[in-house]
Amino acid sequence: MAEALRVNGLHAGYGEAVVLQAIDFSLAAGQTLALLGRNGTGKTTLIDTLMGVTTQHQGEIWLGDQALHRMAAPARALAGMGWVPQERNIFRSLTVDENLSAVHHQPEGRAARWTPQRVYELFPRLAERRDNLGHQLSGGEQQMLAVGRALVLNPHWLLLDEPLEGLAPIIVEELLRAIARLTREEGLGAIIVEQHPQAILAISDRVLVLEGGRVVHDGEAAPLRADAAPLARWLGVGPKD
Ligand SMILES: Nc1ncnc2c1ncn2[C@@H]1O[C@H](COP(=O)(O)OP(=O)(O)O)[C@@H](O)[C@H]1O
Ligand SMILES: [Mg+2]
Repeated sequence: MAEALRVNGLHAGYGEAVVLQAIDFSLAAGQTLALLGRNGTGKTTLIDTLMGVTTQHQGEIWLGDQALHRMAAPARALAGMGWVPQERNIFRSLTVDENLSAVHHQPEGRAARWTPQRVYELFPRLAERRDNLGHQLSGGEQQMLAVGRALVLNPHWLLLDEPLEGLAPIIVEELLRAIARLTREEGLGAIIVEQHPQAILAISDRVLVLEGGRVVHDGEAAPLRADAAPLARWLGVGPKD
């Protein structure tokens, strides 16, 4: 089920504009990466480039032995890249149930583990709202639905772009618990973009920091959990932010 993710010499942006320069990193199957950096440093552009919706100028992206950089965006999703974009683009005029069943995909040769039913077990709050329309959900419920929609495609990796943004603390706790369960018990890998690193350092194995579209730090999460001072330097925030 698990596949490593390798990025080599990636340059990408929008049309002729280059935002990301010479990005290299690799993650073992099932690892969790905290993707950090100030506003506008290229975090979303990196996630979107992995998914194939920006302009890639150079470089390679490998999911196991699959060359993602040669695939169009929909093929990358089917190959195992589960995308939860910053704007949580769920179907607002479909019910929760319809949102999940519309995209349920059983990849050939891969045991289909995630069904709408299992998403409801992960997020009981969504089960209660299964007949509600997307636009009737709270921000937290929409985020859970966005995660659920990525899961029913049975991905190897979850790419979560600021999943906690704007959510109440109790919902943040619920989502963090669910994400930790996915990565620790279900064997999924994850890349989590966050502006407030303390919340996700606890569930991350690795940390990648971007500055001006380049990698300025790539290392283990554990030392930064023990001493967050370097993070404050890279991110320009206090350790509690
Ligand atoms: N659609 C776009 N077209 C052109 N430039 C963009 C677009 N989206 C983002 N950018 C630029 O790319 C840079 C990185 O943005 P982004 O990846 O959204 O940063 P982050 O997610 O780290 O806040 C910024 O300078 C931003 O202005
Ligand atoms: Mg962003």
